[in-house]
Amino acid sequence: MAERKIVKITGDVPGPKGRQLYSEMEQNVPRGPAHMTPIAIASSKGATITDVDGNTYIDFASGIGTLNLGHCPDEIVKAIKEQADKYLHTCFHVTLYEPYIRLANKLNTMTPGQFPKKTLFLCSGAEAVENAIKIAKYYTNRYGILSFLEGFHGRTAAAMSLTGQIQPYKYNFGPPIPWIYHLPFPYCYRCPFSQTYPGCELACLKYVERVFESIIPPDAVAAVIVEPVQGEGGFIVPPKEFLPGLYEICKAKGIVFIDDEIQTGMARTGKLFATEHFGIEPDLLTTAKSVGGGMVLSAVTGKAEIMDAPHPGGLGGTFGGHPLSCQAGLVAFELIEKNNLIDRANAIGNKVKQAFSTMQEKYPIIGDVRGLGAMVAIELVKDRKTKEPAKQEAALIREKCYKNGLIAIGAGIHHNVIRTLIPLVITDEELEEGLSILDEALSSITTH
Ligand SMILES: Cc1ncc(COP(=O)(O)O)c(C=O)c1O
Repeated sequence: MAERKIVKITGDVPGPKGRQLYSEMEQNVPRGPAHMTPIAIASSKGATITDVDGNTYIDFASGIGTLNLGHCPDEIVKAIKEQADKYLHTCFHVTLYEPYIRLANKLNTMTPGQFPKKTLFLCSGAEAVENAIKIAKYYTNRYGILSFLEGFHGRTAAAMSLTGQIQPYKYNFGPPIPWIYHLPFPYCYRCPFSQTYPGCELACLKYVERVFESIIPPDAVAAVIVEPVQGEGGFIVPPKEFLPGLYEICKAKGIVFIDDEIQTGMARTGKLFATEHFGIEPDLLTTAKSVGGGMVLSAVTGKAEIMDAPHPGGLGGTFGGHPLSCQAGLVAFELIEKNNLIDRANAIGNKVKQAFSTMQEKYPIIGDVRGLGAMVAIELVKDRKTKEPAKQEAALIREKCYKNGLIAIGAGIHHNVIRTLIPLVITDEELEEGLSILDEALSSITTH
């Protein structure tokens, strides 16, 4: 095992205090909110986490993309404390306040699209998705929604219905809400049409026309919702023509194009928002996760005309746009600019992709290396020809990682993808060490 400079593991993971807390959790918390590791955090900073037993880990997960700005940035912690000293909460429906309005203006300015925009704040990603759908239906007076296979939009009733994965999100939770239809996403490593790009001539895009002919007419479709890079689906990056093609279909048919940037947003992919890579200006854009710099916050930003369609009182919620979260979100934007985190995302992404490609040459279990900016993943297969998913191996690799001081998480419809959502403030030394732990874990699985 290579020498570790940052990671500190003093014994078993979890240690005695961690095991005690785990067992108390099992008694008190339902099993529904499952865990990717059994680690119980005591404190965190930058790209490292220290657990209740004093072990230090490098974090390649960022709270599933919530901490693009790292754990506890000084400026965000300070802003939260200062805001807490002024006022905690009144509910935006009761009194208005400056951080909500300033952050709305920031999102209206920074999201793609040269048109007047407005922003609504909520709490979770799922809630942002629910509201985007409501707004699109109200604006169009249509009720159909198209989403994608392998896509993920959250766990509430409508968000779950839009999600294109049965396990663990939809199984046995009853019928979805009506009028949602799933389209095949261009998952080129496992093409739904068994073709190869670019020879396929984007069969997945042509399929939309078939849906309009056979399943739902376009004038009954309110919106298409799409992740520019599928997150939970396994970091699936569509070919460059796909999203512009989909956008053109929406424009031609009067369908609202909803860009779900909840995982891809806030500099993660080497642009502030991933749709910028594809040169399109979405009608509505959802954010959550890193938009609050680690605080609970989500938003729907979009064309003013569409956002203003629902009547007063039809949108909102008690805690939506909490003052502490909006203040943190304002500082998050400042830090992305001040610390050049967009460039840093590209540098991290290049380094990780290069390291993964080298690992792919050594370890046949790596079937595919893919990603955009600092959203990079490997897909593990038992056999590169059959592409049989290596689900158990992926779980074992993640376990070996955390036991050796690296928090790495999975994804993918077959649960065989290891994805990296590295805090963009990670140092080069931390990045190297994290990658070497992952390399060691892969080597032990491949050779034994
Ligand atoms: C693309 C996307 N949309 C929606 C959500 C749901 O967000 P939340 O878990 O905050 O409800 C997620 C969460 O992972 C996501 O990745």
